Amino acid sequence: MTAITNAPGISSFSSVQKRYRMKFSVSVVLLCVLHMWIGSTNGCFAGDGGHLELDLEKMFITAAAGCAQIPCGFTDLPTTFMAREIWFKGSPESPLSPEEVEKKNGLSRALSTLRECSVILWDLVGLDRTEEYGFMLKLATNETHIFPETVQVSYSSVKLNISLSSEVLVATKMTLLTCSLSDLCLVSDPKITWKGLRSKQYFPLRYRLKEGNVLKYYEKLHYTPVPEDHQAEITCEVTFGKNLTASATVTLTVHSEPQILNSSTCTRQQDLLTCLCVCEGVPLPDIHWAQLQDKSDFTTVRASDGHITVNSTIMITAEDFVRIGTVICIGTNKLGQANMTLPVIFEGNPDQSNELPMTFKGNSDPDTE
Ligand SMILES: *[C@@H]1O[C@H](CO)[C@@H](O)[C@H](O)[C@H]1NC(C)=O
Ligand SMILES: *[C@@H]1O[C@H](CO)[C@@H](O)[C@H](O)[C@H]1NC(C)=O
Ligand SMILES: *[C@@H]1O[C@H](CO)[C@@H](O)[C@H](O)[C@H]1NC(C)=O
Ligand SMILES: *[C@@H]1O[C@H](CO)[C@@H](O)[C@H](O)[C@H]1NC(C)=O
Ligand SMILES: *[C@@H]1O[C@H](CO)[C@@H](O)[C@H](O)[C@H]1NC(C)=O
Ligand SMILES: *[C@@H]1O[C@H](CO)[C@@H](O)[C@H](O)[C@H]1NC(C)=O
Repeated sequence: MTAITNAPGISSFSSVQKRYRMKFSVSVVLLCVLHMWIGSTNGCFAGDGGHLELDLEKMFITAAAGCAQIPCGFTDLPTTFMAREIWFKGSPESPLSPEEVEKKNGLSRALSTLRECSVILWDLVGLDRTEEYGFMLKLATNETHIFPETVQVSYSSVKLNISLSSEVLVATKMTLLTCSLSDLCLVSDPKITWKGLRSKQYFPLRYRLKEGNVLKYYEKLHYTPVPEDHQAEITCEVTFGKNLTASATVTLTVHSEPQILNSSTCTRQQDLLTCLCVCEGVPLPDIHWAQLQDKSDFTTVRASDGHITVNSTIMITAEDFVRIGTVICIGTNKLGQANMTLPVIFEGNPDQSNELPMTFKGNSDPDTE
């Protein structure tokens, strides 16, 4: 990027779609101003020539995510001379709307004699491309002054990145989820919204960081996953610029210790007990039945519901049940082990459901307690 110095001596007037080039001097401008003040109206610039200078500082600007900032200064004129400052894209026939362009003071460096016309162009996204922008003045005389200097602004698609501090998360262990927006427009902070997290317990940390020449915006989330977050799609949605959004999504892998759910029960029908053990965990736990290792006729179903549940069913005779006293289900994975003594429910006679385990307790092998 080069800063260009003033390209002096060129003024163009297009109220009648014609451009003039002319020599000028500061004194002529002053004379003109004087003419204005004493009531002489038309043709001051067109007739006598005026020195209007535009300093854009840069010929080429790379837009950041959401906006581009264009430093600009032009010959200071008495406000009575001036009607409007207008930025256009490509040609003067395409003036920018107030939504697209916002006046912003403080961007230009060379303002000792110039009046600032710096602007922010908002919401430049889409296909990677370069656009040319120019500046013109509507004068009080109804003349339009189009400056020949233009600036090229290149913009590219938004780079949004979501990353996890570790590939595999562990339930109940706090982790960091990071969402970053690269090459951020300096003017406004983006708003970040997280979607898909099961637990509401999280503490976001937001900051800007300059990496090389690129300003990045980060949001780091201290998050403690719950087992149900396994395979959840987490989305970080960013609103930035005036009215732009972008999002990034990751799928979580959350490991968790086995946990035997309270829906695990034994149901007794006459001389047969059907016991169901429902166990959650990632990696999916292996299920064992304490004291029933010799029985091979149990079935284990690995559930598809969220990939974290295993159901195991075993049938035992009342005789076996009397022998072992309690039915204990054990779930094991690499993170740990869980066990539960299953309650026995009498089918069709719930009143007795709490009594039976007590009745047989005396017969149980002490090792199983
Ligand atoms: C400029 O144009 C407007 C409307 O087009 C008109 O009302 C006004 O009188 C004009 N001013 C001068 C100085 O010619
Ligand atoms: C996303 O962020 C990660 C971690 O900061 C980094 O390694 C990766 O290169 C980034 N990807 C993009 C496309 O910026
Ligand atoms: C924001 O942009 C969307 C489409 O991208 C548009 O429908 C909506 O009207 C815009 N809102 C504002 C306030 O400009
Ligand atoms: C099962 O129920 C007991 C008592 O009601 C409760 O303390 C425990 O947290 C429950 N376990 C699960 C996995 O829901
Ligand atoms: C496991 O058992 C629970 C409780 O009975 C049931 O809701 C769930 O559908 C079962 N899952 C499978 C895969 O059989
Ligand atoms: C059941 O779990 C408890 C504590 O987690 C443990 O002390 C006990 O040995 C386990 N019982 C069996 C049969 O694995």
